[in-house]
Order: sequence, then C-alpha cells, then structure tokens
Amino acid sequence: MNLLQDKVIIITGGASGMGRAGARIFAEEGARVIVADLNEEQALETEREVMAAGGICKAFRYDATSSADTERLVASTIAEFGKLDVAWANAGLPAPFATVEAYDEDLFDRLMAVNIKGPWLLAKHAAPALKDSRGSLIITASLSGLKGRANHSGYQAAKGGTVMLTRSLAKEFAPFGVRVNSLCPVAADTPMLPQFLDESGGLMSRDELAAGIPMGRLATAEDVARAALFFASDLSAFVTGVNLPVDGGTSA
Ligand SMILES: NC(=O)c1ccc[n+]([C@@H]2O[C@H](COP(=O)([O-])OP(=O)(O)OC[C@H]3O[C@@H](n4cnc5c(N)ncnc54)[C@H](O)[C@@H]3O)[C@@H](O)[C@H]2O)c1
Repeated sequence: MNLLQDKVIIITGGASGMGRAGARIFAEEGARVIVADLNEEQALETEREVMAAGGICKAFRYDATSSADTERLVASTIAEFGKLDVAWANAGLPAPFATVEAYDEDLFDRLMAVNIKGPWLLAKHAAPALKDSRGSLIITASLSGLKGRANHSGYQAAKGGTVMLTRSLAKEFAPFGVRVNSLCPVAADTPMLPQFLDESGGLMSRDELAAGIPMGRLATAEDVARAALFFASDLSAFVTGVNLPVDGGTSA
C-alpha cells in the first residue's frame, strides 16, 4: 500500500537536505510533490532526481519570507494539481554561534523572517486548501526549539516560536479536520550541518555532537523525512499539536 497515494504535497526547502529526502520518499509513496525553494537550480535537481525514479515532482522558485511568493506557490499548485493535501514548511536558515552581545541584529531579523514568518505565511495561504482537503500542515522546528543551548539565541528563539506556532495552529485548525505537527530534529547530517560545527565557530565537532546523542549518531535527512511521512499520511489521522523530537533519545 502506498501511504500517500494521489496526495498533493508542497515541501518548502525541497532543494536540499531533509526536504529533498522528503520529496524522494513522498513520491515513492505515491504523492505528487511540489518542491519550493529559493535555490531554483537545486530545486530543479530534486525534480529531475524524483522524475528519473518514476515519481511526480515539480520545482517552484519561492522565497519563504514573501507573502506574494507563498500565495503564488499555493495558487499554482492548485491550478496544476487541483488540490493541496499536505504543506511541509521546512525551509530554514541556520546561524553561527555567538554571544547575545555579538549576535548580528540583521541575522536575528532574517531568522525570524525565514524560520517563523515563513511557516506562518504558508499556513496563512494554504489554510483554505487544507480545510478543503482536511489535510496536514507540518513544520520543521528543531530540538533547538525545545532545549536551550548557550550562544544560539536567535536561532533558538525562532525555532521555539515555531513550536508554539504548531500548538496554536493545531487548536485553530482542529475543528476543520486539519492537523498541524512539527518535527524537532537533533543535529542532522545535511548541507546545513557545517554551519553549526566547530569549524564555523560552533560549539563542537561532528564526532562530539554524535557522542552526545544516546543512539550514537547524527540524524540523517531520511530519519526526518520518514517522521514527516507519518504526519503527512493518514497513519497520524488523530495526531495534532505534537512537536516530535527526532533526536535518537537526546530529549528522553
Ligand atoms: N541540519 C540540522 O542539523 C538541523 C537540525 C534541526 C532542524 N533543522 C531544520 O531543518 C530544516 C531543513 O534543513 P536542512 O538541514 O535540510 O538544511 P539544508 O540547508 O540542506 O536545506 C534548507 C533549504 O532551505 C532553503 N531556504 C533557505 N532560506 C529560504 C528561503 N528564504 N526561501 C525558500 N527556501 C529557503 C535553502 O535553499 C535549502 O534548500 C530547516 O528548517 C532547519 O532549520 C536542521
């Protein structure tokens, strides 16, 4: 049985990492996938990869901070595929570690714009279509939204915001049969990871990070995408408002 047969799914940040893994896995489960990303070239690469494997995928250039882009993304999805079942707000901006005194103010504003306002805009513009389909909204938050870590204030504040955004929207959408859940991954081995590590002024090396995770390794993009698959599918039909750690036991 295909878990997502004929579902129409938007994945933002689908040009790379978790989003690209999700596009591959969702298409294998029968979904038609729209990968929306600022990086159009890499989004097209995701499209080619999924289509070459026999799936249905379409790349869409979009800036998560733009209300107009988000509106166009949803409208063009419905024009092309007739409906929207799942919207996965996964695009995100990393940040180097810095004390609050040294934290760059412009970066702080960008983190709020991409990591909180981005998912909020997707919820806003996708809401009517998700209510029509009694669909599912998924947000990639982070373990950084659940547990404090020094010198990471802007990124953590933004991801903490998405955790509460998930709870708030879950309550708002529940009467319409729309579910809202988030994924809270620990450090994941994606192209974003180096920006959190020692060599970029982060706190630890890759090995030290992995040693701090009870299961002894970093998350993979596929670990996170498979958790998203649960929220996208009808297997989670009565699950909403959950901020799910995907963290190898770190928060246990
Ligand atoms: N990698 C980790 O350690 C980790 C851990 C926890 C949570 N996360 C979160 O997971 C999500 C996916 O990250 P990833 O690890 O796959 O990283 P990634 O860098 O591989 O992918 C992020 C994607 O988001 C896109 N993006 C960034 N800003 C955008 C914007 N304004 N509009 C549209 N697209 C934009 C990028 O172009 C990129 O394709 C992010 O929200 C990230 O914050 C990552």
